[in-house]
Amino acid sequence: MMKKTMLWLGVLLPAVIQAQEIAPLFPATPVPDRIILTFAGEPATTQAVTWRTDSLTAKGIAELKPASPHPSREVTPKVFDAATQLLQLPGATAHYHTVNFTGLQPATAYMYRVGDGRNWSEWLHFKTASRGFTPFSFIYLGDAQNDHKSLWSRAIRAAYAHDPHARFMMHAGDLCNRTNVDSEWGEFFYAGGWIYGMMPTIATPGNHEYYRDENRTLTVTKLWRPIFAFPENGPHGLEERAYHVDYQQMRIISICSQSFLLNKADSVSQMAWLEELLKNNPNRWTVVTMHHPVFSSKEGRDNKSLRDALRPLFEKYHVDLVLTGHDHTYGRGIGEQSARGKKISLTGPVYLTSVSGPKQYVPALDGWQQRAGANTQFYQVVNVEENLLRYQSFTVTGELYDAFDLEKKKIRERAD
Ligand SMILES: [Fe+2]
Repeated sequence: MMKKTMLWLGVLLPAVIQAQEIAPLFPATPVPDRIILTFAGEPATTQAVTWRTDSLTAKGIAELKPASPHPSREVTPKVFDAATQLLQLPGATAHYHTVNFTGLQPATAYMYRVGDGRNWSEWLHFKTASRGFTPFSFIYLGDAQNDHKSLWSRAIRAAYAHDPHARFMMHAGDLCNRTNVDSEWGEFFYAGGWIYGMMPTIATPGNHEYYRDENRTLTVTKLWRPIFAFPENGPHGLEERAYHVDYQQMRIISICSQSFLLNKADSVSQMAWLEELLKNNPNRWTVVTMHHPVFSSKEGRDNKSLRDALRPLFEKYHVDLVLTGHDHTYGRGIGEQSARGKKISLTGPVYLTSVSGPKQYVPALDGWQQRAGANTQFYQVVNVEENLLRYQSFTVTGELYDAFDLEKKKIRERAD
């Protein structure tokens, strides 16, 4: 009897596994999903949105009008045609549609919906940036990477609940674990749902967003560019991965650290591009995000070549924050040893690593860190004022874990 049961298992098991691999876990339909706001142009006058439909739905349009508390339809929306691309992945072929709303008024709330004229999303809201400086806040998240539905959902939802008026959220890479696996992005969108359609995303790619193609060429996941409409203002060949956004007097620079570390040409091009961006920077604040940390917070790791190349530029041009991930721990420091809680005069940035997902590593308690953490999911809220930047890190259960203020002094000297 026992022998017969085992035989049955032996015959049936492969068939079951095969069926699971083929069935799409997050099937696309004619109704838009995976709706996500990004900045593809100037945040005061433009706003990009991307969404997904099934491959039979080839048309994409978006309707836009000033946000109104009145639900009636007295204002005729402006209609924008989408740029549509087909993404073919095993069991997950879909269309991705992108509209970049242009000609918008600064500091203005809009409502929009996306669809094909028959199937529509709900109406969603966003607000454009102001032209000059206005205080604002943003959310910074370390690696999401795994178990988005089960556990990472806590981080994105806690961050949104904490600061629903944050003007954008920033991911420091490794948003997913396995390159080109659609179901992981399905979980990513399940976890954040409509939040992405209301709060723009800025993301830099991590090592887990990269793979070697059939020619052994370092290649970003096939999902990256269809899902995100990021600026194409970086070095050639690194479009939508190395880029910058100027948001209300804050320059945000995404460095593609994976290609920086693994491709000589990409490190050379990014160094030249970065120096120009830092040298000719009319903004009050400067934040760099990249996946790999300048100072590692995981035991046994050290990105020396990255640090040797970038740290002098960060210090020379007075970068304020370097927001990274990769190490699956929490670390905050200035690169040198200093007492906790002390007021310090800085010319260079504060370096941070954080983690929002459940994957956790053993921390390195090196001297560069004034605050370290392990085995905890975090989110960060950064409040930006004219001369003060208030940084706070929270656990996903809402406890304040770390905080510091950066006070900007001698702005004229810094701009020189
Ligand atoms: Fe990583």
